[in-house]
Amino acid sequence: MGLGYVNGKFVSLDELVIPIEERGHQFGDGVYEVIHCYNGKPFMLDEHIERLIRSCEAIKLPITQTFTDFQELILTGVEKAQLVFGKVYLQITRGIAPRNHPFPNVPVSITMTLNESEPTPVEIREQGVSAITHEDERWAKCYIKSLNLLPNILAKQVAQDQGSFEAILVRDGYITEGTSSNVYIVKNGEIITTPLSNHILAGITRIAVKQAAEELNIPFVEKNYSPEELLQADEVFMSNTSIEILPIVKVDSQKIGNGVPGEITNKLYSQYQVYKQNQA
Ligand SMILES: Cc1ncc(COP(=O)(O)O)c(C=O)c1O
Repeated sequence: MGLGYVNGKFVSLDELVIPIEERGHQFGDGVYEVIHCYNGKPFMLDEHIERLIRSCEAIKLPITQTFTDFQELILTGVEKAQLVFGKVYLQITRGIAPRNHPFPNVPVSITMTLNESEPTPVEIREQGVSAITHEDERWAKCYIKSLNLLPNILAKQVAQDQGSFEAILVRDGYITEGTSSNVYIVKNGEIITTPLSNHILAGITRIAVKQAAEELNIPFVEKNYSPEELLQADEVFMSNTSIEILPIVKVDSQKIGNGVPGEITNKLYSQYQVYKQNQA
């Protein structure tokens, strides 16, 4: 059924609450976070809130809420929605004001939805998914979790239209990330992923993948890699809050390795399950 929250009030999801002249609606002038709940507890909540605050600062959103205020808001929402396994979507925009480009002097708008979700089907995890490569047509500040997702949506649709799960983005001859995921290759026992920069989002799941690699004594190398290295990898996988760690077994119709999920990907996924259980 789900639950919504708008500027201080919990509401049902079908309530009409956003005025037309809201800057998220008219300009995409805002930022967001997606947090997964396992066993009624938001996973890696602190890291998500830290990133949310970084995104707000990056676009100069005048938030008055503190880290603790966001913590309380999300935990209250989870309790009220009785969310056990599902997603919290939290969005902050530059508020409600007559449409004009410069910043208005109004409070920010905070909205949130809380919805139960279905786990990724076991068959998909066991078989892995396919991906395409696609030009990265996004702007220069991809480290901000901005509401403006048009290039991501367009590339994801190209992937879907070709029967693929994700589009892996290429900028200046190197892989950046997926439209809604971080992407990794495994070559000769090493995990290789794009270094953090303005060109990618610092994924929260990526933090856990790095930690898992360290604990499993698998080298985690942060360096740029090309589409050719992607196709010649032993394993490819992607990560995000919703799909966790998912093997990619085909890219641009070409098999990766022997076309089945790789050993290192599976080990990282198992370790991720341990982290989820430990915090739940
Ligand atoms: C462009 C992009 N990169 C990476 C990620 C992975 O981030 P996280 O692990 O925090 O979900 C996302 C998540 O949606 C994303 O949209």
